[in-house]
Amino acid sequence: MSYYIIDELRKVAGEERTALAERLLRTFEGSHHIPRGYYDLESFEAEQIGELVSTEQSFFIDLELLVEQPPKRYFELKKRFKRASTQMVRVANLPQNRRWDIPLNKWPEYFYDFQAAIRRQFGDRYDCISPLARRMRFTQRRLGKGGFAEVYVGKDGKTEYAVRIAHPLGKWNAYDARIRSKLLEQIKENLSQKRDLFQARPFVILEEVSPARYGEALCIMELFKGKNVKSEIQGKLKEDPETKERIAHTYAQMLKYLHQRNLLFLDNSWANMLFSESDAAVCDYDFVSSIPELESGRFPEIFTKTTASREQLLQREWSYSSDLESFALMLDQLYNAEPFQKKKMEIEEYKIIAQANKRRYTQERQRKLPKKLRDLVTPLITYPKDYSITIDDFLGVL
Ligand SMILES: Nc1ncnc2c1ncn2[C@@H]1O[C@H](COP(=O)(O)OP(=O)(O)O)[C@@H](O)[C@H]1O
Ligand SMILES: [Mg+2]
Repeated sequence: MSYYIIDELRKVAGEERTALAERLLRTFEGSHHIPRGYYDLESFEAEQIGELVSTEQSFFIDLELLVEQPPKRYFELKKRFKRASTQMVRVANLPQNRRWDIPLNKWPEYFYDFQAAIRRQFGDRYDCISPLARRMRFTQRRLGKGGFAEVYVGKDGKTEYAVRIAHPLGKWNAYDARIRSKLLEQIKENLSQKRDLFQARPFVILEEVSPARYGEALCIMELFKGKNVKSEIQGKLKEDPETKERIAHTYAQMLKYLHQRNLLFLDNSWANMLFSESDAAVCDYDFVSSIPELESGRFPEIFTKTTASREQLLQREWSYSSDLESFALMLDQLYNAEPFQKKKMEIEEYKIIAQANKRRYTQERQRKLPKKLRDLVTPLITYPKDYSITIDDFLGVL
């Protein structure tokens, strides 16, 4: 594109050239950046970026030589280019497996066509993606991020969706690329097999799961307009017992629904629950599994450590009590406005406690819970715990 502009400008002279420069820059900026293009996140080399930056710099040199008084928008463009090229070089200098540490929407837009890049992630499987994914316009409005995924708004005409794109942040980074893609493949398979489960409340509706590859748009979901429970525990929710109870009730219903079907939820965390004035729904159900699936070691040890159950920490003796203990820890967190283990603890320390099977639940923390919940939460948090409590016991009081 930049070559085209320079060529066109060479054809005319004087004021006509200045006017043409203004017109061409206006036409080609905006969503069609100059230069237009995007780069495969994982594969480009630092030198390639260096070359690209210097080629593009020559566009600015050429233009300034040709046009005596460049239009104002030219200087804006130049500034944007400078900023983006610095960022691009920074990204390019990161080892390839660290490049995704930079959120997608922070990729220098000047070089990076977000839309095209996401499509590119479908890779050679692009042909098998659904008509909806094909039509979808991916926007850079980010709804949230977790240990695995970034979630962006996607649009199909006027209808908005949440598009979940897996990325290797946090927990992800501990695994090498082969394990990551295998895990993604398992998650995709799990979601596809269990898709029918997530077609109504208490879940955020799963529209479809796309073919998985490392870093790929993994699923298209209903866009839930609301807030994440975890981020509101110390804010809006603190003085709002009705909403707390409504959220706890929905979560218990979700566990009941799964336990009835011989499934465990496993990724128990308030970060996976969204709520609004009138609605609440669970948004992240990657790891829903049956006990035989768990016993076969289907997924690596992945969980939120602050609400992990003894079974998750030890990776054995799977039972529904695992979800119930985690739910108890979540309720404790909701009513105390902070997690059960206040001080930062390594996962190893959690494992030692689980192994020793000894844990106290202080009076001070118990007191913050409504009486009816306290009587169920306490024996689940205290080790050895009470394995006889079921989700029906919670639903009886919620
Ligand atoms: N369908 C959705 N609508 C609105 N926000 C969402 C939706 N799905 C996820 N989010 C937001 O994005 C965050 C991360 O999504 P999540 O699926 O939990 O990713 P991860 O697997 O990385 O934990 C969530 O905590 C939530 O705030
Ligand atoms: Mg999550």
